[in-house]
Amino acid sequence: MDISDKQFKRISDLIYDRAGIHLTDGKKNLVVGRLSKILQQMNFNSFDDYLDYVETDRSNQSLSIMINKLTTNHTYFWREKGHFDYFVDTVLPEIVKKKRERHENDLRIWCAGCSFGDEAYTLMMLIMEFFATEYPQWTAGLLATDISTDALSHAVQGLYPAERLRDLPQHLLRRYFKKTPDGSYQVSDQVRREIIFRRFNLMRDVFPFKKPFDVIFCRNVMIYFDKPTRDTLVRKFAHSTVKNGYLFIGHSESIGRNDETYRYVKPAVYQKN
Ligand SMILES: C[S@@+](CC[C@H](N)C(=O)[O-])C[C@H]1O[C@@H](n2cnc3c(N)ncnc32)[C@H](O)[C@@H]1O
Repeated sequence: MDISDKQFKRISDLIYDRAGIHLTDGKKNLVVGRLSKILQQMNFNSFDDYLDYVETDRSNQSLSIMINKLTTNHTYFWREKGHFDYFVDTVLPEIVKKKRERHENDLRIWCAGCSFGDEAYTLMMLIMEFFATEYPQWTAGLLATDISTDALSHAVQGLYPAERLRDLPQHLLRRYFKKTPDGSYQVSDQVRREIIFRRFNLMRDVFPFKKPFDVIFCRNVMIYFDKPTRDTLVRKFAHSTVKNGYLFIGHSESIGRNDETYRYVKPAVYQKN
């Protein structure tokens, strides 16, 4: 199906307004490719008819479907592995030491833009490994959010084809997954029940969390946003993070070394001032 410049602008304005995602002109073919099937299935003859429908659908369901189609959910276990080493060797010991000194036993971690759940499950396994037999004495559950309801429904199931787990250390695979008859792997219940998966749009003006997080992972998400959107989001993250808490972003992203809210620690890792 053909799309005019005006129709493409309507889509990119809508997706920018509702999801913060910046669709450049170069994404035109991708957008047509991803949305054409919906138009056919729903018997729309043009993008204008489809957009009129999306914009007036008060349930927001058709917008949600459109967002599901236009987000890029690529992810895999053990992605950017250096971050996990740093999390286990430096971040967790530092936070846990401080909490013990204050006689606290809760750990608050948010995986924002979790996609299919690979990153959130990896973090949860590492937290369990770190605490070992002491784990039950901690409140160390993890919040994992995404705007895509499709990605989240996969995440909740925790079922993955073997190739997604290629890079995961074998001992984690053995301990925290069960193999299904078709050769896929499912995350064990003990890990799945520790993660709360929720739909959450990072464009919300105000984040509703009652208590700030010790660590936020938001990796390979801001790459889809423009600079003003990234700057606003980083301020909201800072507001929702404890002093000296950590923000992990993707290695191809940056928040600027002079940001007043965070100081640079190492590539793609920042600490709240
Ligand atoms: C490429 S994935 C990153 C997954 C994982 N963090 C990683 O690094 O492998 C980007 C995710 O950001 C989500 N996303 C995009 N815009 C969002 C928004 N406004 N609010 C919440 N999530 C969003 C997408 O749905 C997608 O699942």
